[in-house]
Amino acid sequence: MSLAYLNGTYLPLAEAHVSAMDRGFLFGDGVYEVVPVYGRTPFRLHEHLRRLNQSLTSIRLGNPHAVAEWESIVAQLIATSEHSDQQIYIQVTRGIAATRNHVLPENPVPTVFAMSDALLPPAPELLREGVSAVSADDLRWLRCDIKTTSLLANCLLRQLSADAGCFETVLFRDGMLSEGSASNIFIVKAGTLLAPPKNQFMLPGITYDIMFEIADANDLPYEVRPIAEFEVRMADEVLLTSSTREVMPIVMLDGAPVGNGRPGPLTEKLATLYQSFKQTVMYGKP
Ligand code: PDD
Repeated sequence: MSLAYLNGTYLPLAEAHVSAMDRGFLFGDGVYEVVPVYGRTPFRLHEHLRRLNQSLTSIRLGNPHAVAEWESIVAQLIATSEHSDQQIYIQVTRGIAATRNHVLPENPVPTVFAMSDALLPPAPELLREGVSAVSADDLRWLRCDIKTTSLLANCLLRQLSADAGCFETVLFRDGMLSEGSASNIFIVKAGTLLAPPKNQFMLPGITYDIMFEIADANDLPYEVRPIAEFEVRMADEVLLTSSTREVMPIVMLDGAPVGNGRPGPLTEKLATLYQSFKQTVMYGKP
């Protein structure tokens, strides 16, 4: 039976309960990771664990586990799941508060929760046809580099695209591209892949990094620099990346076609190369 992990115990998900006084519940005071698993092997686990550590440091919370302990938790969750491809969700909050107080407790006992769910590949027709997106002002805070469970702004922004029957909300801050509500965004101009630089306005995506590894390995031109909103609207191609949605072409933005309204050649190449990169890394075969 598929089990979840809560504070040292493996148990059915329905039995995993946390206190109403948990600071994760009261304040959204916690951080998280989502690690893809292919063929029961975690993909880029150490990069995810490194980012988890960065998030914890940023919120002034000690890492409750050494890398080997995290590896063991992840391995046990993978083993109990019936799915071969999974997404492992890891959450660490600042634990149970004695009283509701904004001030950080001195010696917190973190709440550690993790679970596994099936990871379904993006539907082939979405890859073939591309997806639609809407845009919105990025009204989030100024530390979007922290992968925090305080995701209300992201949820409200994502809902704007859901309301419009679209797949993602592309965010602009002061006229510049930041990212998607739950993904990183790239554009293509004249055959060059363009990405905004990592800063406090976006999550440093693990899949984002892989795009440059793939580009380097295949001599594909790219540039990392601030991208203005008008450049996104005039781009030949727009694409999103995330651990769960991999590489997806965005072919409509706010009802207007991106380029010719079809997935572009560089996006298709990157999506294909990502699949073989995954195979190579996971199974040692292209
Ligand atoms: N989200 N930006 C935001 C705001 C995200 O929430 C995510 C991923 C990304 C992409 O990061 P990565 O390539 O490391 O998955 C960028 C995860 C999947 C989620 O919240 O479910």
